[in-house]
Amino acid sequence: MLLHEMLKIDGGEGVFLAEESLADLISLPVTSEILRSGLKVEDLIEVVEEGGGAHRLGVALRLTEPADTWLLLTDRYSGSRALDGYLQDGAARVVRVEEEKFLEGVVEALAISLRSELFCDACPVASPPLFVPERIEGLERFLRPLLPAGSEVLEVCCGSGMGTQALKRLGFRPWTEDLDSCEICMALKAGHLDSDRAMVLDARLLDRFFPPRRFDVVVGFMVGLIDDVNWPLWREVLVSSSKLAEKMVIYTTYTEREARIVAEALGSVGWAAEVAANPDDLGIYDQWALLGRRLG
Ligand SMILES: C[S@@+](CC[C@H](N)C(=O)[O-])C[C@H]1O[C@@H](n2cnc3c(N)ncnc32)[C@H](O)[C@@H]1O
Repeated sequence: MLLHEMLKIDGGEGVFLAEESLADLISLPVTSEILRSGLKVEDLIEVVEEGGGAHRLGVALRLTEPADTWLLLTDRYSGSRALDGYLQDGAARVVRVEEEKFLEGVVEALAISLRSELFCDACPVASPPLFVPERIEGLERFLRPLLPAGSEVLEVCCGSGMGTQALKRLGFRPWTEDLDSCEICMALKAGHLDSDRAMVLDARLLDRFFPPRRFDVVVGFMVGLIDDVNWPLWREVLVSSSKLAEKMVIYTTYTEREARIVAEALGSVGWAAEVAANPDDLGIYDQWALLGRRLG
């Protein structure tokens, strides 16, 4: 695992994140409990950002009770300095790592735990995720002329990763996310998503993990179905996700009406938004799209 490399510990040693999800890395429920508990720690590694601001990214604690294992704590995404107390005596070893590598390590550790069903009593999902080759081919054809080669891509609301396959075929290695942990889990088990870039998270919280305009392009496939009732929610999802794009956003929808609603919303927050038709014989997926280019 990336966390072993980062902490420079043996691959056979157990290493876990204290928290169970990215959302919990914002509120730190378990970390707060651990810090209050006066846990007996055998060894300690401080993870510090390489270059840049040399921020502390996290602290790995080696525990022997109830089992010999490393527990990684991070307050990097919480807006707090919850870990300060642990480092006061200066007894820690220090490892340096790029901030983004650290996030990949965190995301991978959570994805592996999810995929191993560590967070579930029993798996309610019996069948593998839907995979429609014609849809993927159609999306690949549609995206090919739009996406500049070498772009850094974020795919929001990726579901089980069907659309992600089109991005991969075009040579991209997108960061992906969805609110639904079962969708991400199925996609990981099926090999549709990469564990170091597959996140379970409400898209509206992505800005806690990535700075504005971090990606060249943000995409979302079959966002919606958008109606009058859920539109305020989707508006927030799409407007906040778009803030992470430097150059372009692409959102596909089922109907022209949905694409036009999204275009109007993005047009009002500084995007040149164009609606494009993308009909095919299936008539189900990605029939319309909103193409947004950042103005200024
Ligand atoms: C219609 S599905 C499309 C899935 C996938 N993009 C595809 O085309 O196959 C919409 C997805 O949006 C996800 N979603 C809904 N609200 C979300 C939110 N606030 N943050 C992240 N994902 C969300 C759902 O869990 C669902 O997987």
